[in-house]
Amino acid sequence: ASNQMWGGRFASGPAAIMEAINASIGFDQKLYAQDIRGSIAHSEMLAQTGIISTDDQKKIAHGLNTILSEIEAGTFEFSARLEDIHMNVEARLADLIGPSAGRLHTARSRNDQVALDFRLWVKEEMQRVAVALERLIEAFLDRAQQHAATVMPGFTHLQTAQPVTFGHHCMAYVEMFARDLSRVRDAIARADESPLGAAALAGTGFPIDRHMTAKALGFREPTRNSIDSVSDRDFALEFLSLAAICATHLSRLAEEIVIWSTPQFGFIRLSDQFSTGSSIMPQKKNPDAAELVRAKTGRVNGHLIALLTVMKGLPLAYSKDMQEDKEAVFDAAETLDLMLAAMTGMVSDMTVNEAAMKKAAGSGYSTATDLADWLVREAGLPFREAHHVTGRAVALAESRKVGLEKLSLDELQAIDSRIDGSIFDVLSVNASVKSRSSFGGTAPQEVRRQIRYWRKRLKRG
Ligand code: ARG
Repeated sequence: ASNQMWGGRFASGPAAIMEAINASIGFDQKLYAQDIRGSIAHSEMLAQTGIISTDDQKKIAHGLNTILSEIEAGTFEFSARLEDIHMNVEARLADLIGPSAGRLHTARSRNDQVALDFRLWVKEEMQRVAVALERLIEAFLDRAQQHAATVMPGFTHLQTAQPVTFGHHCMAYVEMFARDLSRVRDAIARADESPLGAAALAGTGFPIDRHMTAKALGFREPTRNSIDSVSDRDFALEFLSLAAICATHLSRLAEEIVIWSTPQFGFIRLSDQFSTGSSIMPQKKNPDAAELVRAKTGRVNGHLIALLTVMKGLPLAYSKDMQEDKEAVFDAAETLDLMLAAMTGMVSDMTVNEAAMKKAAGSGYSTATDLADWLVREAGLPFREAHHVTGRAVALAESRKVGLEKLSLDELQAIDSRIDGSIFDVLSVNASVKSRSSFGGTAPQEVRRQIRYWRKRLKRG
């Protein structure tokens, strides 16, 4: 049989393969609440502007609310023959209320309908991501507070570089996730325009009120160009972009957690809640959750590339290609939500091994820069010369297999006679971090200042 929505000019129904490639109900049923909300707002506007009768509108709204309950109760039967969520809902509405159902789609097309539903969904998801990011940032701020003065090695090239504080390292992630949060908020603001009323692409001759539906659906304003309204998926691309950047941040953190939790590093221990054992090696405690966060980033990043690639060749306005936007976004959203929750859990309840961090901080000649800086500051050497002198001290310590602070004053003075006993004050890791009090530096007092800054800024929202 031909389709009841557009079967007028079709003699027969689609081939089974056609139905299989065409149907989106398997995934776009996720949009049911947005679809029904949009339809109710649309029908109210149609009644207010006199395009349909109040009587029809009441039946439509009542029927749609019944459908909402049916879907939420799990009794609604989705049909692939009806292609997508929009036609499934509309067909059921016709079952429930008869001919009045046919008036709902006045001055509307599935093109503006799907653009609306999807935008509503993506906006809500971005609001969820914002909340999840705030939680993760809070978790890091708490950790930073506890460990503002906990010394650990800072790395470049994953080689010991200079001592830093664990609090400072945590605050680096606060900066990253706060940027993600600001990207989400920007994207929400840009997505905050209603496409409803663009109809197929050209607008409509019916005296609709797009400002009314925009307001009823919680948008700042209606979109200004009907062609763009049904062609645009920037809101989805922006969500995927910010998701990919955020996932990439989460993945770097995951990688650090994997490294830190090895017995070789031993900087942290994950709780039993976020690790697994091995079925053969009894001693093992594996950071599976962190590894999966690292891996799932590949999926999120892949979805961004997938949708960019779908969109890049599309002429204006709507093409069916755009139906492929949804699975990418849904899976990226579900994945990102899970990643954020898992990371917040891991950050909150991992155990920090301060002794192991401190020990590692002192190895690898991490205070060599402090020695060089001392030579500049106290003995007036140009930095390049100080660098050279320090290099000789490191070579000596290395040949003796000891730390810089274990060299005697005589040995140091044999390298450069301008060195005196106060040098030992800067060779300890605590003195090193304490001295780095420049704005944004690793000194505990500076870290605490940045924590106060973020707490205040996040409260402002
Ligand atoms: N299922 C479609 C989608 O997701 C709805 C829009 C269909 N519009 C059309 N003219 N075929 O994009």
